[in-house]
Amino acid sequence: MMNPFTFVNPTKLYFGQGQLKHLPAEAAKHGRNVLLVYGGGSIKRNGLYEQVLEKLSEAGCVVTELAGVEPNPRITTVRRGAELCRKENIDWVLAVGGGSTIDCAKAIVAAAKFDGDFWDVITKKASVQAALPLGTVLTLAATGSEMNAGSVISNEDTLEKHGWGSPFVSPAFSILDPAFTASAPKDHTVYGMVDMMAHVFEQYFHHDPVTPVQDGFCESIMRAVIATAPLLVDDLTNLQYRETILYSGTMALNGFLSMGVVGDWANHDMEHAVSAVYDIPHGGGLAILFPNWMTYVLDDNVARFRQFAVNVFGVSTEGKTDREIAEEGIRTLREFWSGIGAPSRLADYDIDDSRLEEMAEKVTGSGTRGNFRKLTKQDVIAIYRMSL
Ligand code: NZQ
Ligand code: ZN
Repeated sequence: MMNPFTFVNPTKLYFGQGQLKHLPAEAAKHGRNVLLVYGGGSIKRNGLYEQVLEKLSEAGCVVTELAGVEPNPRITTVRRGAELCRKENIDWVLAVGGGSTIDCAKAIVAAAKFDGDFWDVITKKASVQAALPLGTVLTLAATGSEMNAGSVISNEDTLEKHGWGSPFVSPAFSILDPAFTASAPKDHTVYGMVDMMAHVFEQYFHHDPVTPVQDGFCESIMRAVIATAPLLVDDLTNLQYRETILYSGTMALNGFLSMGVVGDWANHDMEHAVSAVYDIPHGGGLAILFPNWMTYVLDDNVARFRQFAVNVFGVSTEGKTDREIAEEGIRTLREFWSGIGAPSRLADYDIDDSRLEEMAEKVTGSGTRGNFRKLTKQDVIAIYRMSL
């Protein structure tokens, strides 16, 4: 049976070419003083920065800027942003960039209204009770942060990286134009596509046997990404491919796929621990770990992996056992990711076995992680070892 659920997604989505035209009207709703948050400068190089400033000035906004949000955004940058909000009497925040910029802006809108050390919120010792309004203009198809209530923040002093979330930080609006993603380089485009597939996996691999509607949504997104990804990596400015991938990334993690099912998310926790210690790109880490997790837990539900192999990768069934079909699906996934240029071993990032225990401790502590199989610290170490 499906789990009972309540569903709300308050983000107003503007999707497609030319949709930046809605920015002035949205800006006018949220106030005059805006904090513009962006990353390391890609929006200046591709011209989006100028376009956004023009639209904000049309709305009569006074713009304060926070530039330089780092990939795997840091709590120190969040603190800087919150300080700016207070000092400049900011009414709302506009994030223009990828998941890191949006995640950082989510933490800023909440931290601006939070009394105390915001790291306590990230580590779930305190919760958010209010936030400034947030709008986003997305430039990289990957995380789904543009239409969900989650955020992931790193602490470079303690080498921790944690997801947190609050309904208060769901974007009020998000503008998605495939043209804004067309300048993303091949490596980040690939990491983004791996990430969105991983989001689908986290919600697809569960033990409920009767979820045909959700299965169909998940399989459709996976097939679309699999069909489009190889075309896009060879033609990075093709807006039709960019559009399909952009829509896939948002739909993969805006709550639609998880209705009524229990997600797993152990791979995300395992990857966040690797990124916390080695500061590697999130999608790169997932590409390395996920197929190994699949192999590790396969026997808990061969039927589910068989369904994945057949419905997603079209693996032929003739003359094969269910387990062989399932294994072929996992192998095909690894080959597919390698084929579009994703990494497959921790060694690809010069990571050796010296800190596996430390990373695993971050994932499970003395408990377990995940739902498909509740992984212990020893299980996590074993999956890291398979990934060396
Ligand atoms: O910083 P700039 O100069 O903008 O460059 C970025 C960055 O170097 C570049 N880029 C983005 N759009 C571009 C572009 N370069 C040229 N043209 C464009 N149009 O790409 C690089 C990576 O950007 P980043 O925002 O870090 O990537 P992504 O969107 O993959 O975000 C990764 C972060 O999101 C977290 C990850 O853990 C990681 O910290 N996640 C957030 C989630 C969420 N909030 O729901 C869920 C995910 O599972 C994930 O954990
Ligand atoms: Zn992810």
